[in-house]
Amino acid sequence: MSRAKGFASRAIHHAYAPQENEGALTPPLHLTSTFVFETAEAGGEMFAGERTGHIYSRISNPTLDLLEQRIAELEGAEAGLALSSGMGAITSTLWTLVSPGDEIIVDETLYGCTFAFMRHGLTKFGIKISHVDMTDPDNLRSAISDKTRVVYFETPANPNMRLVDIARISEIAHEAGATVVVDNTYATPYLTRPIEMGADIVLHSATKYLGGHGDVVAGLVVGNAEQIGEIRLIGMKDMTGAVMAPFNALLILRGLKTLALRMDRHCATAQKVADWLEAHPAVSKVYYPGLKSFEQHDLATRQMTQPGGMIAFELQGGLQAGADMMNALEMIQRAVSLGDAETLIQHPASMTHSTYTPEERAAHGISDGLVRLSVGLEDLEDILEDLSHAMPSKPAAVAA
Ligand SMILES: Cc1ncc(COP(=O)(O)O)c(C=O)c1O
Repeated sequence: MSRAKGFASRAIHHAYAPQENEGALTPPLHLTSTFVFETAEAGGEMFAGERTGHIYSRISNPTLDLLEQRIAELEGAEAGLALSSGMGAITSTLWTLVSPGDEIIVDETLYGCTFAFMRHGLTKFGIKISHVDMTDPDNLRSAISDKTRVVYFETPANPNMRLVDIARISEIAHEAGATVVVDNTYATPYLTRPIEMGADIVLHSATKYLGGHGDVVAGLVVGNAEQIGEIRLIGMKDMTGAVMAPFNALLILRGLKTLALRMDRHCATAQKVADWLEAHPAVSKVYYPGLKSFEQHDLATRQMTQPGGMIAFELQGGLQAGADMMNALEMIQRAVSLGDAETLIQHPASMTHSTYTPEERAAHGISDGLVRLSVGLEDLEDILEDLSHAMPSKPAAVAA
């Protein structure tokens, strides 16, 4: 067959041959910590990098291998690496790339623990973290220097949905010799493939859409073979030890099989929920890339095949109105994380982004009244009915 297979087919089949695995339709789980060397010399050669093969599961494992090949294929990258969590992916990658004296330029808004790692973690070791509003790429052009080792951003960003123009930012970063790292957790490779737009490294909290069922914490990184080899052998093996358990790799492989199907449904429902929220009198602002009112709607149309399943919004009555609404929900679950079958709602200022101080939240565009909704796979009518009965009935009085 000469035609390249589509995304869904590759997510189901890539790099696995049942005939080579006793005919098993689903891949075997290699539940082993270590691997046996045929001879003492063969073991030595593997350690010296002169012979391929598995040594120990903190370095590689066949079940993880398959997942790594599959995510690399879906992201259009040369190589992949599976880690114990999204934070394991982020920390292993950045510890590998930077040295004291280097600078990392990051966008204004980041997931709370990423922000804490950079701002309160990496800076302790002599790494300079500079925040730049990357929604205007010229800001990066003014800020970047030969000390800038990494340019890092999320698009869409957690929690306020800001987008970053991957192609333009990558061009500017590369002119200065910096490595571009993109957190693609919100979009997934089904909606956006940053490597094809010029980024160098893409990482994921696979806990979210890639796993898709709220039953596993996991992380993935993709990039070129040399970079991924370094992140594996330096960041993961020696610095963080953040290796993924083989059983979790199997859960992520299972999740990937339905990624396209689930994303189509997440996006279709989220668009309708965002339209509904925007028209509701108790809602003051909705942030969703699929809305014409979204400031970066044009960029969303160019860079994402669909606008995603995440929505952020604010109520007229601010923080208290948001908390009252969340407490009145019956089907929608009050929980952090995202990308699951269940619709989840949370309050970033007091939950996922409480790692920012109030001043930092204000400076980084995370308002105290913001509510984050991860639209699930339930029936649209049931999601709207739950939201509808939980909304303040007299928005004007609440606002007063
Ligand atoms: C955008 C983003 N990146 C990274 C992470 C960290 O991932 P994990 O919780 O799997 O460590 C999260 C978690 O919420 C996230 O939302």
